[in-house]
Amino acid sequence: MLNRLSSLKNRAYFVFSRWKTNSVEYAGYLANRELVSRNRKLRTLAGKNGVPLPPPRLIYLVSGRFDLANFIDGGAESFGFMTQALQQSGYAVESFESILDFGCGCGRMTRHWLDRCDPKRFSLCGTDINYQLVNWCKRNIPFGRFDLNQLIPKLQYSGEQFDFIYAFSVFTHLPEDMQIPWLLELRRVLKPGGILYLTLHDRYDWLTTEQEKRFKTGFLVIQSAVHAGSNACNAYHPPEYVRREFSKHLEILFYSPGGTQKATKQSAWVFKKR
Ligand SMILES: C[S@@+](CC[C@H](N)C(=O)[O-])C[C@H]1O[C@@H](n2cnc3c(N)ncnc32)[C@H](O)[C@@H]1O
Repeated sequence: MLNRLSSLKNRAYFVFSRWKTNSVEYAGYLANRELVSRNRKLRTLAGKNGVPLPPPRLIYLVSGRFDLANFIDGGAESFGFMTQALQQSGYAVESFESILDFGCGCGRMTRHWLDRCDPKRFSLCGTDINYQLVNWCKRNIPFGRFDLNQLIPKLQYSGEQFDFIYAFSVFTHLPEDMQIPWLLELRRVLKPGGILYLTLHDRYDWLTTEQEKRFKTGFLVIQSAVHAGSNACNAYHPPEYVRREFSKHLEILFYSPGGTQKATKQSAWVFKKR
């Protein structure tokens, strides 16, 4: 009971502090007339493929920036990088028929499926813990089905449903006690032989000396676990940690160190369910 009260108190504090912070930052954005006007122009054009562009307030929630051009270009670059990583692992992005975007946000990656694939040939689900982001996707991305999930597993999908799952910059915001439970949950909903693509932080430039030591000895580093699931909580995955812990559950097919993608500087991993 006490634990539950304390977790509710933490949650309420978290929501309030994020709301306050976001409002202050949003006011700063509104004062930047050049960016506001550039974003307005971009939003009046739908995206290149006809999918509308989300409002800057939602873009901030997934990227920490209010910059629409960065959202569009970063999403396109990251989708392109994922396509290449899959190709190098022996899979064509067009070959998947049942896809899950885990932690879909407001569709920075999701929207790009239309550029590459015919929506009649695949089904796509997106899921996230943030109802504002999920609601926006429901209203604006007609070719997908979008659901809300809780911070901890499990998902509402049946087992062995998807042949491809990706989580772009999501495990980077989960505390240590949620890492393996979420990996196992994604594994549960993957078909045998299915593929999982993850991006992770494997750089330590932003760590304190103590955290850097921990990272360099192959242990996960977590900052602000109390803010689990938001951009305020950050997880740093040394490659040794991923090889040691994640490979107990999934086969590793591909690893590309952080910094290879201009937009995110995160490492990219492709796994296969044996
Ligand atoms: C940095 S954003 C990336 C969003 C999206 N993948 C993109 O590339 O724009 C991290 C996302 O993960 C979501 N998230 C965090 N924890 C989650 C969880 N346990 N289950 C599902 N989504 C989660 C957040 O709400 C947020 O939308």
